[in-house]
Amino acid sequence: MRHEDRLDQYVRSVDEALETYIPAVPMLPQARLIEAMQYSLFAGGKRIRPVILLEFCRVSGGDWETALPFACALEMIHTYSLIHDDLPCMDDDTMRRGRPCSHVMFGEATALLAGDALLTAAFETMLDPGVSPSLDPDRVRRAAHVIAAGAGAYGMAGGQQLDIEGGKPGADPLNEAIGVHSLKTGAMMAAAAQAGCILGGATETQCAHAVSFAKALGIAFQIRDDILDVEGDSDELGKTAGKDAAQGKLTFVPLKGMEECKALVASMTSGAIGFLPAFAGDAAAGEISFLTWLANEMMNRSL
Ligand code: IPE
Ligand code: IPE
Ligand code: MG
Ligand code: MG
Ligand code: MG
Repeated sequence: MRHEDRLDQYVRSVDEALETYIPAVPMLPQARLIEAMQYSLFAGGKRIRPVILLEFCRVSGGDWETALPFACALEMIHTYSLIHDDLPCMDDDTMRRGRPCSHVMFGEATALLAGDALLTAAFETMLDPGVSPSLDPDRVRRAAHVIAAGAGAYGMAGGQQLDIEGGKPGADPLNEAIGVHSLKTGAMMAAAAQAGCILGGATETQCAHAVSFAKALGIAFQIRDDILDVEGDSDELGKTAGKDAAQGKLTFVPLKGMEECKALVASMTSGAIGFLPAFAGDAAAGEISFLTWLANEMMNRSL
């Protein structure tokens, strides 16, 4: 299968599954909350984290379709993190995924609750006893635990705290930036890879390699995001460019300069790809694997 087709298949499947997990229920008294959840969820995110999870499940020998609840849970958590990231008390943004931010459309209180409800829906989805009955309950428990840990105080939420603090006074800003990036972005990527491996039945060595791949990719992904914040165009990005400098965010761009940042994204991406041979048979001889292709696409992305 062509890599583009596989990506399409994953994204389409995730979108379809999300529609079933978060359906429109206009008759419910709290319909506005669900409308806000849908508004952000179906605004055209790239679905990178779900795709990573599904592919690691597949290359670990699993049936990727059984992993869809977990892929969707990751996207729900990621979407909640973006809704909250944009709030006036955080990055104070007005545009996300090409639309006005949730709090601009629905007000701060509903945006806050939409984030809360998406985070909670992720756990309802992963832990629904009727979901993917063919999956081993131990794998379900372990994968859900990994995703919870990736989102929490020692993962994404912890990284967001470091991001708003902007680095400890007197500490090496480069080290601080790596710390922020690895938690706020790397942790969810690593959780995606690890959960996919667990669900697909990877060996422990494969799991460790997948996590190393995703951690490096996550940092490269955030540096690319910071580059695009400077070089990108708000309309194309679907979010406001130029925010990081305006808000004095701790990013690699002012520390290293643009050219070095681009070189760093390239070297971290190729470093990440170096962990993929643990998944033998992933690509036919002479061809690059889907994950290698995806990592390169992420490095060169313009949104
Ligand atoms: C944006 O994530 C926030 C970061 C961690 C850089 P994405 O670039 O994956 O955003 P969507 O999901 O495609 O909107
Ligand atoms: C956000 O980083 C990371 C999250 C965990 C949400 P940014 O604040 O740079 O993300 P954007 O640029 O607003 O998407
Ligand atoms: Mg932020
Ligand atoms: Mg932001
Ligand atoms: Mg950004």
